[in-house]
Amino acid sequence: MSGIARTSATGGEGMLPELLAWSTSLHHDRAFVREDLLGSAAHVTMLARTRLVEVADAQRLREALLSMYADAEAGTLALPDGEEDVHMAVEAELGRRLGAVAGRLHTARSRNDQVALDLRLHVRGQVADALQRTTALVTMLSTRANDERETLIPAYTHRQRAQPTSVGFRLCAWASQLLRGAECLAFGLARADRLPLGSGACSGSSLPIDRNLTSFLLAFSQPTLNALDTVGDRDFALDFAWGATRVMVALSRLSTDVIDYATSEFGYVKLDGRIAAGSSMMPQKKNPDVFELVRGQSARAIGNVMSLLTLVKGLPNGYNRDLQEDRAALLSTGPLLRGALDAVTLALPHVTFDGVKSAAALADGSTQATDLAEALVRKGVPFREAYKAVGALVRRAIDDGIALSQLDPAVASALHPALDAEALRALDPAAAMRAKESIGGTGPRAVAEQIEALRAGAEALAVIASNTPTLANLAARIAAEPLEPA
Ligand code: ARG
Repeated sequence: MSGIARTSATGGEGMLPELLAWSTSLHHDRAFVREDLLGSAAHVTMLARTRLVEVADAQRLREALLSMYADAEAGTLALPDGEEDVHMAVEAELGRRLGAVAGRLHTARSRNDQVALDLRLHVRGQVADALQRTTALVTMLSTRANDERETLIPAYTHRQRAQPTSVGFRLCAWASQLLRGAECLAFGLARADRLPLGSGACSGSSLPIDRNLTSFLLAFSQPTLNALDTVGDRDFALDFAWGATRVMVALSRLSTDVIDYATSEFGYVKLDGRIAAGSSMMPQKKNPDVFELVRGQSARAIGNVMSLLTLVKGLPNGYNRDLQEDRAALLSTGPLLRGALDAVTLALPHVTFDGVKSAAALADGSTQATDLAEALVRKGVPFREAYKAVGALVRRAIDDGIALSQLDPAVASALHPALDAEALRALDPAAAMRAKESIGGTGPRAVAEQIEALRAGAEALAVIASNTPTLANLAARIAAEPLEPA
C-alpha cells in the first residue's frame, strides 16, 4: 500500500493495513471519480489564476486531470488500491503520472470540501436524470388520461365503492402525485447548487483563492455561505433522497392500484403477458410482479432517508468521518429510482383498462346516490333533506332486494316529491361522472384542464433537467478557461 493518506502525504506512521482496508471508501467513491477529477481540474485552474500555482505547473496538472477524466469516461482509468478514498487515490495516480508537481494540487483544499463537492455534483446529475424520467412518465400518463376521459371506473373511499369517475381522472391522480415528487427533486437540485470547494477543512483558507471563479467553472450559482457548516452539511443528500422517496412512494401507490385492479375481484385492468409473471406451481396465474417489486423497492428509498437522517442527527459541527457512511444510502438512491421509473414506464403500456368491467361496478346506481342528492339540491331542496330522502330511497332498494337504479319512479316520488324522473337521471353513472365539472373534478372538461396543468408542470421541470449542466459541459468549460492571471 502506498498509504498516501497517512504516510507520503502527511508523513505519519500509516494506519494499520487491516484498519485502512476496513475504513476505506474507495470502493464506493469510484462512482464519483469523474466528479472528483473535474473538481480538481477546476481547482487547479483557479490556483493558476490566483498565482498560487505557476501556469506551467497548472497546465500539466490540468491536462493530466482532464486526461484521467477522459479515461474514466472510457472506463479505462486505473486507480491505485490501498488508499483511504478516491481523493487520495487520484492524487496518488497524479503523482505517478507527473511526479512532484502533483503535490501542488491540494493547495487551499481539504478532502472535507472535496467530498462535499463530489457528492453535490453527483446529486446534480442524478436529479437531472430522475427529473427527465419522472416528467416523461407524467406526460405519458397525461396522454393516456386524455384517451380514457370517458371510461368509467369507481373511485373508492375507505376501500368501499364511492363515486363514479373516469379512468382519465384516475390517471391524472397518479400523475399529480408523481409531479409533486418531481417538484421535491427539483427542490433538492436547487439546494445542491452551491460550491463547497474553498471551505477547506473547516474554516476557509488564508490564501487568496477565488471561490467565485471555481463556482463558475463548475457551474454553481455561488459558493456556500459558511465553511464550518459546509463541511458537515449533507442536507442536499437528504433533500435528494427525500425527493427520490416521494417519487418512489408515488410509484408504490400506483402499483397497489394496478395490483388491486388486476385481481379477479376488481377486474378493472388486464396485464398482458409481456409484463406478467407466472407461478411455478399454479398454471392459471398471471402475477403483477413488476408492480409488487416497485412497491417493495420503495422501502429501500425510505430506508435511505432514515439512514441519512440518523447519520447526521447527532453530529457535532464541522466534518466527522461518520459522514463517509452517507455513501451507501446516497449512491444507491439514483439507480433505485431510475430502475423503478423505467420499470413502470415500460410496464404501463401493457396494462389495459377493461371499461366494461369497471362500468359494471357502477351499474346498480348506489355510487350515484350523492349525485341524486345534488340533483335535488339543484331543485332547491336543502342538502340535508335531500341526503335523507336519498338515504331512504337507498334503504328501500335494499329492503326490496333490488338495485337503486331499478326502483320504480313512483316509489321514489312517494318518498320525496322532488325525486322525479328527471332527478333520477342522475343515477346514470356516465351522466354523474360528466356532471362533475368543478375544478379538480372528474368531468371531462375538468380532467382536460388537469391534463394541461400536468403537461405544463412536467414540461417546466423537464426544462430544468435539460438545462442542468452535465459533466461534459463542465469539462469543456474548464478546458477552455485561460490559466494566465489577469
Ligand atoms: N473519505 C472521506 C469521506 O468520504 C473524505 C473526507 C475525509 N476527510 C478526512 N479528514 N479524513 O467523507
